[in-house]
Amino acid sequence: MRMYDIIKKKRDGEKLTEEEIRWFVKGYTRGDIPDYQAAALCMAIFYKGMDRNETAALTLAVRDSGDILDLGIEGVRVDKHSTGGVGDKTSLVVAPVAACCGIKVAKISGRGLGHTGGTVDKLEAIEGYRTDLTTEEFAEIVRKVGVSIIGQSADFAPADKKLYALRDVTATVDSRPLIVSSIMGKKLAANDDCIVLDVKVGSGSFMKNIKDAEALARSMVSVGKSAGKRVLALLTDMDKPLGLAVGNSLEVVEAIETLKGGGPEDFRTLCIELAASMVYLARQEEGGKNAPDMDACRAMVREVIASRKALDKLAEMVQAQGGDPRWIYEPERFPKAKYSLEVRAQEKGYIYRVDTEKYGEVSLILGAGRSTKEDRIDNTAGYILAKKTGEMALKGDLIATLYTTEKPEMLQQAADLMISATGFWKEAPEPVPLVLGTVE
Ligand code: URA
Repeated sequence: MRMYDIIKKKRDGEKLTEEEIRWFVKGYTRGDIPDYQAAALCMAIFYKGMDRNETAALTLAVRDSGDILDLGIEGVRVDKHSTGGVGDKTSLVVAPVAACCGIKVAKISGRGLGHTGGTVDKLEAIEGYRTDLTTEEFAEIVRKVGVSIIGQSADFAPADKKLYALRDVTATVDSRPLIVSSIMGKKLAANDDCIVLDVKVGSGSFMKNIKDAEALARSMVSVGKSAGKRVLALLTDMDKPLGLAVGNSLEVVEAIETLKGGGPEDFRTLCIELAASMVYLARQEEGGKNAPDMDACRAMVREVIASRKALDKLAEMVQAQGGDPRWIYEPERFPKAKYSLEVRAQEKGYIYRVDTEKYGEVSLILGAGRSTKEDRIDNTAGYILAKKTGEMALKGDLIATLYTTEKPEMLQQAADLMISATGFWKEAPEPVPLVLGTVE
């Protein structure tokens, strides 16, 4: 087989066979196929797409490029995965909540990607928290605590690690079959019984409109089901940041507030929906004819939050992974940024829309993410929003407070970017529901 022929075939809009796809993924992972040919194929896939069979074959080839996780533990395992957004810290809440509802959560999470934040970076804002556990340590914590969140190790879906880095620098991230195979390849290698997908829609996500997001959700659900998993996807709004906090420490603190029963309403509501969906799938998987409906699952979730059991569970997980659980109970222990700047409205009006991708870039400029692999993240960097889409502001009203320790010289540029990404209008926009649909 020749890589040249595979690229040409896809460039001309033909379908690739399972054998060709597997040959490519294996060869690229081993280093036999150079980056320039893999990049050319990704671009051909970006333009010509892949059908259902090709997408499934690519996903399974990514899954099989490394180890398939076998934790050897009892109980139904459920995962939740978001396609990525701004201010999305739901994993920090839903994982301990689901564990309190009797589900095993063995979560392998990612780092920040482009303008979107990553759970692993957020957790590492807690001093001492280890995300690089061995499989044995990971299994032990899931067995004992019920929940563990770690980063992706090298022997796990290595094809995706290479392909993702390549797509990131060749403008081929936002291709449906490539996203499906990347996310579902990793999820299937993690080998959970059930998967809840949070497919983001809007200016802060990879899918900018509902039609594309729904097609992505259908494709992921279909690939997951054909691999024998129970899968459900929620389509959720990412036309504005989720919650009020963006940036690693700030987001962990907001997640802690939410586990104490507070937190911003949109964030709290989404956490309840996602955690309830995890419980719902787990109970279905357990096979009970009397499996509870979504309302009963929501009630269960609300109860473990109200009783603070889920907050204790997060502290227990943090301690098991080397972090100081006192940070969970006393979030004032998180180091504060040295510098801040208030962003104020330049005109009177309703915040009509925001460019959420640019809002993601604001936190990166302040130091909350990496622009190279070697970059050190400033965990104090980010911002707290004072106003969100739909709210009225008078000229001079506070829109957000920006924070940084490492990049004070970038504060004004970040403020200018936020202002340019915020659209005002004399009338309020139509409210958009947080959950835009479900795909099962
Ligand atoms: N998240 C992933 O892991 N992969 C993608 O391709 C997009 C989002």
